[in-house]
Amino acid sequence: MPIIERHGRAKGVGSDMVETLEKLFNEEEIREAVKRLASAISADFGGEEIVLVSVLKGSFMFTSDLAREMKGHVIIDFIRASSYGCNTTTRGTVTLTKDLETDIAGKNVVIVEDIIDSGLTLRSIREMLLARNPRSLKICALVDKRARRQVEIEGDYVGFSIEDGFIVGYGIDYAERYRNLSAIFVVQGK
Ligand code: IMP
Ligand code: MG
Repeated sequence: MPIIERHGRAKGVGSDMVETLEKLFNEEEIREAVKRLASAISADFGGEEIVLVSVLKGSFMFTSDLAREMKGHVIIDFIRASSYGCNTTTRGTVTLTKDLETDIAGKNVVIVEDIIDSGLTLRSIREMLLARNPRSLKICALVDKRARRQVEIEGDYVGFSIEDGFIVGYGIDYAERYRNLSAIFVVQGK
């Protein structure tokens, strides 16, 4: 059942588009997943300070909810990787268009990412951050999309696992739209 229809001009397409969205995870399911992840992270670090490295823009909403559920001292910082598809080189490395302001050397770091798809973005980010000698480096992903994985990378903390499908909502976009939706939807036909 299509529950939302939006009409608009999709960026770079130049024609009117209609996207039909179907709800995949509701607000309650998301809240429960976020609580579970926050408890697991907090338990693993036993009250030690944790630096959450939120990967913009897709994980801004996830990060803010996750941080509120965590115990102990939490430092929050942001990075932005060159957008998927455009600046990804053939080797699959991404560049940072916004870097951390926090020195993570000797710190417990958790990368907070919206989606692991091919895994190329996270692999690249992980290598960059490991070079800065954190005390520990973990990956927390809201959604693990398994079908198109190109590199071996696993989230240490994963909210939802799905096979495939293009999703939006709860911070995640399609051509910059739908980030403001509180639930997670699948874009039909994508
Ligand atoms: P990867 O490098 O292929 O793992 O790409 C991960 C990034 O691609 C995510 O952080 C998202 O920004 C974007 N992405 C992958 N799948 C989707 C999706 O279903 N909806 C929206 N963005 C996606
Ligand atoms: Mg992303």
